[in-house]
Amino acid sequence: MLGKKIEDAFNEQINWELYSGYLYLSMSAYFQSINLTGFANWMYCQALEEGTHAMKFFDFINERSGRVELLATKAPGKEWESPLAAFEEAYEHECLVSGRINDLVNLSIEEKDHASNNFLQWFVSEQVEEEASVDEVVQKLKLVGNDGGGLFMIDQELAQRTFTPPAAEE
Ligand code: FEO
Repeated sequence: MLGKKIEDAFNEQINWELYSGYLYLSMSAYFQSINLTGFANWMYCQALEEGTHAMKFFDFINERSGRVELLATKAPGKEWESPLAAFEEAYEHECLVSGRINDLVNLSIEEKDHASNNFLQWFVSEQVEEEASVDEVVQKLKLVGNDGGGLFMIDQELAQRTFTPPAAEE
């Protein structure tokens, strides 16, 4: 059985993960609108991945006989000044999510909830990857600056990203 404090905090985290997906989907649409389809693909895959993060919390709450509560999700931004501005915002957002995961870990320790603590460790590792993968693109964008050829090459690279649903992963 899930304690009330953990249940509330995990429900809030479902909302954060869904909002993350919403934000990245909006960024994907922004990239489509400026014809950077590789960047759009990367953000589209990222949005799908965020959906799986939300579902992990959804399933865990149910598995522990808690009650899922879906909260209102705010509208994300629609336009960004540049590809770099969008990726910088994505990076800042991931750092916020990492901070939230750390807070959840602290709460699980306070509540002596070892099952939740164990469940959250996956997210601790995942956030390291999340921050690194977004920052990698930020750094590449900084490197190319206003060079159209460089931007085109990054776009080609980001077009290669694919999304694998967790059920198909081993
Ligand atoms: Fe689910 Fe990108 O954090």
